Amino acid sequence: IPVDPFDLVIFGGTGDLARRKILPGLFRRFCAGQMPENARVIGAARTEMDRAGYQQMIREAIAEFNGDFEHEKAQLDGFIDRLEYVAIDAKGEDGWAELQKLMAGTERVEAYYFSVSPALFGDLAERLQQWGMADAQSRIVVEKPFGRDLKTAQALNATLAKYFDESQIYRIDHYLGKETVQNLMAVRFGNMLFEPLWNSQYVDHIQITVAETVGVGGRGEYYDKSGAMRDMVQNHLMQLLCLIAMEPPARFDPDAVRDEKLKVIRALDPVLPHHIARGQYQAEPCNEAEQPGYRTAVGDPRSRTESFVALKTHISNWRWAGTPFYLRTGKRMAARSSEITVVFKETPHSIFAEDAGRHRNVLSIRLQPNEGITLGVTIKEPGPGGMRLVDVPLDMTFADALGPEGAEQVDAYERLIMDVIRGNQTLFMRGDEVEAAWAWTDPIIQGWEARNDVPKPYDSGSDGPTDANELMRRDQRQWREYSA
Ligand code: BG6
Repeated sequence: IPVDPFDLVIFGGTGDLARRKILPGLFRRFCAGQMPENARVIGAARTEMDRAGYQQMIREAIAEFNGDFEHEKAQLDGFIDRLEYVAIDAKGEDGWAELQKLMAGTERVEAYYFSVSPALFGDLAERLQQWGMADAQSRIVVEKPFGRDLKTAQALNATLAKYFDESQIYRIDHYLGKETVQNLMAVRFGNMLFEPLWNSQYVDHIQITVAETVGVGGRGEYYDKSGAMRDMVQNHLMQLLCLIAMEPPARFDPDAVRDEKLKVIRALDPVLPHHIARGQYQAEPCNEAEQPGYRTAVGDPRSRTESFVALKTHISNWRWAGTPFYLRTGKRMAARSSEITVVFKETPHSIFAEDAGRHRNVLSIRLQPNEGITLGVTIKEPGPGGMRLVDVPLDMTFADALGPEGAEQVDAYERLIMDVIRGNQTLFMRGDEVEAAWAWTDPIIQGWEARNDVPKPYDSGSDGPTDANELMRRDQRQWREYSA
């Protein structure tokens, strides 16, 4: 799909996200011919630096972070030519006149990416307006965390709404930019097979697992104030839950999709305290120096922040009443794996005398790595022993099914930035959606705070604390094994 000429200003243009994801992603789009002639990327940050200095910085970042860089190297100079830089003070006046001059008189899409602390969102929006850059054509892109609770999210929304219309605000949840997350919608609404069974009459329960092997790394300061609930559940897992549970939207357009997601979030039951397991990882035995425990990593020996959470929730509507949804996510777990599993109910009756068991189908959607779908089906066990049944997986790995050319991997950020330029908000969170997600998350976190809850320790490289298994065992169920 062609892209209109654009100017993309990245506030925080020298920061980690810009160097790791945004600019390497834009470079890949440039190589794919998706950056029209004259499109420019303007880094803006506090650091005093000239254009050549910035270009050099990004050259190095691309060399470091674009893994498959070699065959694209020839195009690097062309991309670097598109880069501008303005040293700017979000709270003061420095640099704004220069930015205004750069942006003046251009007939093109103007996008401003706020890749900075949310504490600066309001200042940036205000300055853009003061300097005449917040016109009806401009778009702003904001990163998570979008608030830390309902109140702060409402305040952020209110501040941005003073300067920009909702149709100009692009709130990023990078999970929505992942290829296979969009595949959830394709699988559900592009096939006749699944949707008729997609309800509490046929589905026993649904599990969503997002397991990471990394720890908090160098992000301890941010993470310790957030925890897994704010960092992962309120946004990424919530989005997965919405896509798996929502009603079919009438069209694949931004508000039709987001209206349906919002209805799911609003129908979520509050989570009971005994339906949650909370954990914090411990050091890897014998390897403490390289893989320290959570408390060492964040530098607080008494930290009560969770690096793991598992919970059970229900969606109170006609489709899902009675079907539990189990969510879990954690750092330093056994494997990196994001997977959604739909466990169907058992067959109601067995007609085969030799086969005493009852069988159930299980549909697993692997989001990363090794994207694909596995459907567990029951067939006859081979051999002369009569009608004994066995469950086998029907396995489709997308890369195998599509072949090498079909499986072009577009990074989440690349896709989302291009959607901003095209003006397509379908894969971005609307303000009311973010607020509804906080309204559901807040009481859980407040409950922990009120009870001074201490997360249970779990071993690095494990599946989390035993409480998480207990949560399932009480319901005579178990977590699906996940693997890389
Ligand atoms: C980020 C979280 O939003 O998502 C991180 O802040 C987490 O803590 C990351 O590691 C996971 O993203 P991905 O794309 O690696 O699954």
